[in-house]
Amino acid sequence: MIVQRLREIQNRYGFLPDKELKKLAEESGVPLYRIEEVSSYFPAFVLERTNPAKIVLRVCRDAICHHRGAAHLLDNRYGLPVVAQQLVQQTGQTICVEGVSCLGRCDRAPAVWVEQRPMPADEHAWVYCQRDQPFLEGVLRRLACGEPPPPPDTDAGYLPHTNANRGYCQPVVGPDDPPPLEAAGWSLDIYGRQKWPRDYRAVRRFTDYLKNLGRPLLPPPRELTGKELDNYIQKWHPMLVELKTANLLGMGGAGAQTYQKWLDVWRATSGDADERLEVSEKYIICNGDESEPGTFKDRELLLRMPHLVVEGVILAGLMTGATAGYIFIRHEYHEQIQAVREEIRRAEGLGACGDNIFDTKRNFSVEVFESPGGYICGEQSALIEAMEDRRGQPRNRPPELTTNGFRDKPTVVNNVETLAWAPAIVLFGGDKYEKGGWHAPTPATAKLGGRRLFSVSGDVARPGVYEVPIGLPLRELLTDPRYCGGIINGPLRAVATSGPSGGLLPAKLPIDPKFDERKRAEAVAKIADRAPTDAAFMEWFLQARVPLGANELDVLELPLDLVFFRNMNSVFRLPVEPMLGAAIIVYAGNVDVLDHAVNFTEFFRNESCGKCVPCRIGSQKLVQIGTDLLQRRDAGQAHMGTEAERLANDVRDLYRTLQLTSICGLGYVAPIPLATALTYFPEDLRPKPAGKGSLES
Ligand code: SF4
Ligand code: FES
Repeated sequence: MIVQRLREIQNRYGFLPDKELKKLAEESGVPLYRIEEVSSYFPAFVLERTNPAKIVLRVCRDAICHHRGAAHLLDNRYGLPVVAQQLVQQTGQTICVEGVSCLGRCDRAPAVWVEQRPMPADEHAWVYCQRDQPFLEGVLRRLACGEPPPPPDTDAGYLPHTNANRGYCQPVVGPDDPPPLEAAGWSLDIYGRQKWPRDYRAVRRFTDYLKNLGRPLLPPPRELTGKELDNYIQKWHPMLVELKTANLLGMGGAGAQTYQKWLDVWRATSGDADERLEVSEKYIICNGDESEPGTFKDRELLLRMPHLVVEGVILAGLMTGATAGYIFIRHEYHEQIQAVREEIRRAEGLGACGDNIFDTKRNFSVEVFESPGGYICGEQSALIEAMEDRRGQPRNRPPELTTNGFRDKPTVVNNVETLAWAPAIVLFGGDKYEKGGWHAPTPATAKLGGRRLFSVSGDVARPGVYEVPIGLPLRELLTDPRYCGGIINGPLRAVATSGPSGGLLPAKLPIDPKFDERKRAEAVAKIADRAPTDAAFMEWFLQARVPLGANELDVLELPLDLVFFRNMNSVFRLPVEPMLGAAIIVYAGNVDVLDHAVNFTEFFRNESCGKCVPCRIGSQKLVQIGTDLLQRRDAGQAHMGTEAERLANDVRDLYRTLQLTSICGLGYVAPIPLATALTYFPEDLRPKPAGKGSLES
């Protein structure tokens, strides 16, 4: 694989020397232009012709790090670039200080990445979290003088806040922290909770089933549909049915039905055979490329519970008849990559993966693929493009990945957490998972199924990773001592419920007060046509939380349920579609929402892959609009009347255009931060009162 060879060269030299690229072209028989195509695209690769600096310090400039002062660290007048410049003159070393996209340590912002080219043997880039400018200046000075830098802030050495007190890690207990709480621990962590050895017993359960079956587990005949198909699956593949019972939705953002993906791949022929085969060339890919600012839950799973992830990949492979699995991990997660590689070796030693798994004569290999970088590689088809040695740009679909995925073969792509739930569901049944959801106090029908993890960051007492029942009100997650323990730095001003993708919601979401009983009933009836349980929950929510004639909705009352968020739009007809992802970012006090919305927009502009013209140009246009708004406001010029309306219209036009023309989700969501800021926080457009200084708390 070219990408992995480029990674080796980059690790050896710290950049990609031209002569090594030519050598790689000769050795691999791949034309040089193809190697250039890949090496010039991914952020992890540095070309010789760019004159790479010997010492590089990168400050995360996104969401929480921006909130915690990253812009000051990067300021050319008094930030780290000034010190770097002085050191260049004093020592003759080449030093570069620059911004970088989210490093996945948002609970410890600001995060900083430091590299030396080449890195000393057995060292990886150093990551520093929550460090002030004098400390970081010291890091630069030491490196410039040829001394080793201070020990980095490793992920393994940090105990994140979490509700899994009896599980893999304990909460930090400092002088200001509450004492450890009694908590049930994560349901996902089956081995920790049951005190079982990590022996791949879910895989063993499935392989025992295969051995007892007495015939190959053939996928259903193509002509079977509806009830007949259900009966076939029920009879021959009961553990797949458990996934359906669990109603496990993808945890990566899109929320696709995991059961359906696995079924589609199980049923798909790999193209090299017309007949049904128990095993054929199909792939399982675990997407561990979480790069959206505010998202870091997979970081913890990959580091502390790699056995669950590896076991989930093996189960997916065996249950769909696939031949190989890959765990795609962002390159900034070096410790996680090591942990997963070690776990794969351990699983091979136990006979749980590799050849002849638990004496079934079934083979399934698993390996790690280290991402060459870029947020867009988290998009599942872009991820596959990167694995196939092309630029990581999303594909036009159809064909779908379940028929034409990796190497054009049927492929399951699932998020890390989605796969990590599979062992619990296979061992305890989908029913148990489904019953784990949040239950509204009344009536009995108003309940939701399942559990999931959220990464919470920003202005809360205990930013961290929490497993919660699906549907838990946002208020409980943010304020309950079992979870984040309260909003700090003032009252809630804005919350991002899906990282930057969902924009910023105000504490009170304006709704139409003329939303009478008849309209409510119609909206609920529409949901009931598709999903009666979801409709029952919405009905309960309206009765219990939204009095008739109310003109606002308390955002803290929103249930953390992806399906509820999807239904919200049709019920409340909000101007911007709300979204729920794995990242919750909280902003309190007198925080400048417009400034943060522009920061979110810059993230999407920086990470757009450039394939679609409207996204490439539109995302830059959005940044221009936002920056212009900020500059004029800060210069004391009000955006009033027609001009404010014109800019809001421009954003709305771009929103519609990008929704219609973008190939992937990044284009759909790029205008949302600015659209929500202009819609819900018009006061942030007004000039600041004289003498008040920054709006930022
Ligand atoms: S929408 Fe943007 S990020 Fe997505 S494929 Fe198009 S250009 Fe690339
Ligand atoms: S590490 Fe800075 S926003 Fe995630």
